[in-house]
Formats: sequence, structure tokens, C-alpha cells
Amino acid sequence: MSEAAAFPAACAAPSAPDAPPVLGAQRVLELAARSLFDVFNRTAMGTMVVDKAHRIVWISDGYKRFLPALGHAEQDFVGKRVEEVVPNTLMGQVVDSGQPILVDLLTNQAGTFLVSRLPLRNDAGEVIGAVGYVLLDHPESTMQPLVAKFAQLQGELVAARREIAQARRPKHSIASFIGSGAAALEVKRLARRVALTDSPVLLLGETGTGKELLAHGIHAASRRAGRALVSVNIAAVPDTLLEAEFFGVAPGAYTGAERKGREGRFKLADGGTLFLDEIGDMPLALQAKLLRALQEQEIEPLGSNRVERVDVRVIAATSRDLAAMVATGTFRADLFYRLNVLPIRLPPLRERLEDLEALVEALGEDIARRSGMAQMAHKSVAPEALDLLAAQPWPGNIRELRNVLEQATLMTDERVLGARHFAAALPLAGPGLAVAAVTAAPATRGAPARPGTDGGETTVAALPAPSPAALLRPLAEQVNEVEDAAITAALEATGGNRVAAAKLLRMSRAALYAKLARQPRRIVVTR
Ligand SMILES: Nc1ncnc2c1ncn2[C@@H]1O[C@H](COP(=O)(O)OP(=O)(O)O)[C@@H](O)[C@H]1O
Ligand SMILES: [Mg+2]
Repeated sequence: MSEAAAFPAACAAPSAPDAPPVLGAQRVLELAARSLFDVFNRTAMGTMVVDKAHRIVWISDGYKRFLPALGHAEQDFVGKRVEEVVPNTLMGQVVDSGQPILVDLLTNQAGTFLVSRLPLRNDAGEVIGAVGYVLLDHPESTMQPLVAKFAQLQGELVAARREIAQARRPKHSIASFIGSGAAALEVKRLARRVALTDSPVLLLGETGTGKELLAHGIHAASRRAGRALVSVNIAAVPDTLLEAEFFGVAPGAYTGAERKGREGRFKLADGGTLFLDEIGDMPLALQAKLLRALQEQEIEPLGSNRVERVDVRVIAATSRDLAAMVATGTFRADLFYRLNVLPIRLPPLRERLEDLEALVEALGEDIARRSGMAQMAHKSVAPEALDLLAAQPWPGNIRELRNVLEQATLMTDERVLGARHFAAALPLAGPGLAVAAVTAAPATRGAPARPGTDGGETTVAALPAPSPAALLRPLAEQVNEVEDAAITAALEATGGNRVAAAKLLRMSRAALYAKLARQPRRIVVTR
């Protein structure tokens, strides 16, 4: 008591002539520390002291009560590193950081405890260990409101985590690939097989044949389904940005927005799947780096001299003829062989007309569901309209079919869609052309052969010779069609090379990409 009373006086008037000497104040502090320690020792349920190496050097009698629940006897507890004998302890962290943890809840097999952990320092101020107090051993009863709040937050956290996992779950399965004809069944059989492996997969097929859909399905059926599927559309990213997009940027490599660095898609897909769409558009210079990432599962972010390990399964897709590109030197042979381990060829719609009805049915339901209009029920398609659809060349395949169905559905309130409802949506089915479309064979429906093309295997979206009726449609729509035809022709003339096509058309590459990305999409070059 007298010691304690002297403490404020010593601090308040250190320079007064009759004040106790400074050494006395030091002594007071020592005593204060000791009595604090005693108070804590007496009131705490248990006390433990560890040294700099995290070894337990002393425990109070109170602490010994917890030993059976922790599964230890005193002789094999004292002297051990604390993390070996007390699960979830943070004593080591307090020693290493020198920062106290004044109040915390510690949970392990012995129960939940309210604990306090303080670093111990020597005269030089260096951390020499830590002291830990178990303040309460049944905080759930004595600290009910706090613990109830903790439990509630814990519950909310679990629920939020579950929701995130749900949202991340792949939206498509292999079964979402509609079709039961022999060709579609073979595609699905192959997809299920490759899903069991970690090798690269190459999806080949015209635009709109379901490559992206199938990539999602394969990911969902693979052991990586719980992890991310990350997509890059190589054609949509300017060449100069692709490397950073793929491999990331090290912090400090650039100034400005990139100063902090950025993760690349490979890193984001770690543990999961990376979908590389339009792989045929990959610049040659980057193909070597991609090959290395594929083979070594190692990436080197821009501006960094360190390689990072990743675990990524790659699914690549293209509508271009990679083998032909290898022959002309625009695609690296070694990358092609690495990607071509498990190729799956997706047939164009005109080669699997047996699935047309099922596709119309499934797409129709999806269109109705997504329209957001409660009154827009699913519409059926009349047999004569199905015949009309079957006679189309479908250069844009199922994507184009979907757009045509959507347009026809929006055009009328009738529940059954007839041939006339498709007139405006089909390039070959203006009022005067519908009959011709039904009777003519699909193969004759492509553009007439041009000089320099063989005209046989090449399908080009064709424009009908405009009849007066066909001209009585929205101008923007007609302009789009003319633009699409010009772009298609340019792409065909340049073998699918977009840079050259943009030059031919005297337009910027960005403008060309924008038009290529536009829906409905009828621009396609196939071989
Ligand atoms: N077999 C299929 N069954 C159902 N929908 C399909 C099928 N194939 C494609 N689709 C739909 O057609 C559109 C284009 O498919 P997508 O996978 O993007 O084609 P791609 O990547 O080959 O261009 C998407 O809306 C997709 O859901
Ligand atoms: Mg695609």
C-alpha cells in the first residue's frame, strides 16, 4: 500500500528536492509489475511463460488443470515448444512480433478460453519470451453477450462462404450441350473422357458451335470443378497487352495504374482451368512463352525475374485451321502439338440437323426464362418453320440460331412461331426468299465462289439480292448486314488474319474487333 501510494508522487514531482531518488521510482515500477503479475496470477485461471524459442518454461498450478484435456502430463508439457502442445496458440506470434494480444478467444480440444498474451522484455528492451493468461475457462457462460455475438458472426461467415462457393460452381455441365444425334453424343463422350485428365484440350469448330459451353462442361466434370475457370478471349485483347494479361505484372515494374502489380490469368486460374478462346489469334512472339507455361507450369510476371509455379489445366479453342497455320508459319508447331493432345471437333449445326428440334426447344425455353417478361411464355415452332430453319446455312451456328429464335419470339405475341415470323430474322428468308430457302440445298446457300477461293469448303455468310420487300426493314439492320458481308469477305481473303483484314477495309483493328464482337454475329470464315 505505501509502495503504491509513493508511485504517483514519484512521477508527479521528480525534480522536487525531497522527492524519492530516480532509482526509487524504478524500484516502484518493478514492484508494480510484480504485484500486477501476482494479481493476474491469483485471478487468472492459469498462467504460462515461454522463452524466446517458444519453449514453455513455467506453468502455474492453475494451468495444470488444463493438461489432461490437452492430452499431456506436466513432465511432457514444460520444455516443449508451445505450438506442439497447445493447438491454435498465438504465444509464438507474440514472442516473434513483440506485440501483445490483450484479449482473445482461444479454441482447441480443451474448450474455449478467454486469454491474454504479453511479451516479456529484458532491460535492453529485447523480447525474451511471453506470458500467457487464461482469464476465463468458460467464457460462453460468463461472457454470454460477447460470445453469442461471436457465434453469430461465425455463423454468418460460414453462410457467406457457402454462398460464394455456390456462385463459383460451374453453370454448365456436359449435359447442357444439347443434342442426341451421333455427332453430338460423340462430342459429349470425348468431353467426359478428357475431363478425367489434366492434359491440354483443343476444341475445334466454327464460331457458335458450343466450344465455350463445352469448356465450362469439361471444367465442371473435372477434379478442378471447385476451383476457378478463367477465360481469355485472345482475339479481344490487343497484342501489346496480352503478355501482362497472361502472366501478370510484378509490383514496381511500371508506374501509374500498374504500380502495385497485377495477377495474370494463369495465376488466377491456379488450381483450376484456363480457357484460351481464339488461340489461333495468339501472336507468334507469345506462343513460345505460352508453351513454356504449359510444359513447365511456371510463369514469369512482367518486370520480375522470379518464376512462379502454377497448377493450371488449359482448354484452348479455335475456329481456325491450326495445322494450316503451322504449315504457313503463323502458328508454332511445338505449341500446336502440345495443345493437340486431346482434340475435340465440334460439328457445325448444318451437319447435325437431327438435333435442330431439340436445340430449338432448349433455346426457346432459355429465351423465355431470360426475357425477364413474365408474360413471355415459351413458344413452339411450327413444322414448316422448322423446315425453313433446317434449310439455312447457319454460318454462326447455334449462336445464330439462338439470335434468330429470340428475334422471332420478340416479334409476335402468337404462341406458335410460323415461317413468316422468321422472315425478318433470316438473311435468306425475306418474304420472297422463304420458299427458295426451303427448297434449295444448304450447300448452295453459301456465297458464290470468289476468284482465289475454292468455293467448295468455304462457307461465307451471304446476303440475298435485295428484293423490295427485304429492303423495308430497319436501316441499321441492313447496314449491319452489308458490313458483316464485307468483313467476312476481307477475313476470307486474308485467311482469317484480322490485322490484314482491317487494312483491306481501311478500318482500325479496334473497330474491326468491335464489329466482330457484335451480336447477332454472322461473320465467319471456315474451312
Ligand atoms: N450444344 C449446344 N446446346 C445448347 N446450347 C448451345 C450448344 N452449343 C452452343 N450453344 C449456345 O450457343 C451460344 C454460342 O456457344 P459458344 O459456346 O459461345 O460457341 P463458340 O465458343 O463455339 O463460339 C451460347 O449461347 C451457347 O449456350
Ligand atoms: Mg466462342
